[in-house]
Amino acid sequence: MTTQTQGVTDEIVPVHTPSRFYEVHVGRNILQTAGDLVARAAGGEAAAIISDSHVAPLYGDCVRASLETAGYRTTLLQFPAGERNKRFSTLATLLEQLAQAELSRRDVIVALGGGVTGDMAGLAAALYLRGIQVVQIPTSLLAMVDSSVGGKTAVDLDAGKNLAGAFLQPSVVLADVTCLHTLSKELFVDSCGEVIKHGVLADPVLFAELEAHPITSPHYDDADLARIVARNVAIKRDVVNADEREQGVRQTLNLGHTLGHAIEAASDYQLGHGSSVAAGLCCVTRAAEALGWCEEGTGARVERVCEAHGLPTNTQLDCDTMMRYAVHDKKRHGQTVNLIVPTAIGSVEIRTVDLDQLREVIRLGCGKQ
Ligand SMILES: NC(=O)c1ccc[n+]([C@@H]2O[C@H](COP(=O)([O-])OP(=O)(O)OC[C@H]3O[C@@H](n4cnc5c(N)ncnc54)[C@H](O)[C@@H]3O)[C@@H](O)[C@H]2O)c1
Ligand SMILES: [Zn+2]
Repeated sequence: MTTQTQGVTDEIVPVHTPSRFYEVHVGRNILQTAGDLVARAAGGEAAAIISDSHVAPLYGDCVRASLETAGYRTTLLQFPAGERNKRFSTLATLLEQLAQAELSRRDVIVALGGGVTGDMAGLAAALYLRGIQVVQIPTSLLAMVDSSVGGKTAVDLDAGKNLAGAFLQPSVVLADVTCLHTLSKELFVDSCGEVIKHGVLADPVLFAELEAHPITSPHYDDADLARIVARNVAIKRDVVNADEREQGVRQTLNLGHTLGHAIEAASDYQLGHGSSVAAGLCCVTRAAEALGWCEEGTGARVERVCEAHGLPTNTQLDCDTMMRYAVHDKKRHGQTVNLIVPTAIGSVEIRTVDLDQLREVIRLGCGKQ
């Protein structure tokens, strides 16, 4: 006997940006009703689901059936999973397939998967016929709390990650936390780096909750996870709302990333992005405390939370290596870097530091000198 599980929408986070209004629905088993939500938000007659080779076999049929029940003609386009496929060659294939499926300007692309899928399907939507609508259905924790909100899309170049892209806000985002059941524990843990970052950036209550119980613990059921995902979405929403195209305050989302990117690149991308961000976050917070920029005790609290989630709190890289990778960061402006510095749990400031000050931050913040 098969039983149809009833979908539950736990929270709807509205997102207003200068270019579009859309909603982020966070819930349980909401993939089954995706079709209605897509139809309401995007309309159109045809829907092309873009998904990768891991996620399509897990959730492709369910989303497809739901879209067809809502009246869509559907196509499921699948590309090989993995960051190394987030490239122009994959994008070009997808664009040709969209044309073969005869998608018109009124139709919709449904991005079903992690951040790689969301970025590439989003860019395909921005380019195809000079722009059609995209719906984001994030299935990884990282995609739910970070990449599906904000409208950034990109592919990687040989010269670096995310160097070619466009801004395109989705028509709606559907985050079904029950999808997280099939995500590997390793990827779930890694993405907690970004969740902790959001707490340090803007939410002492969220941070205290993570402090009391890591989200990797059985303390949380799916309804709790939905609430936490929704909170993370709201934090990112608030920052992006204030600054859609990253001129100012949006930079604060890079908390932990200047040193984190250096740690990630120096590991030749063997260390996960979220783990690298956690280590970078701990380093910058320790340095900020040592320099008197941050409330005393903050560094130890951030370290404890990262450790409890199974994330690294430091790097063994020496100062010269860290500097070499940190100054290659694309966010650098000439001889200065805009460093995001916590001032307490829940608040940050943007400090423009020169390269000598950056070296001092690394010396004070990182383990090996
Ligand atoms: N656009 C933005 O604002 C933004 C922000 C942050 C990160 N990103 C991008 O996001 C990407 C990283 O995202 P990611 O970690 O989701 O990577 P990913 O999309 O590669 O997903 C990681 C792996 O998990 C698998 N997966 C996803 N959901 C699953 C599920 N429910 N069950 C089983 N397997 C599942 C995928 O197939 C893949 O193998 C990077 O390319 C990064 O540049 C973009
Ligand atoms: Zn990040």
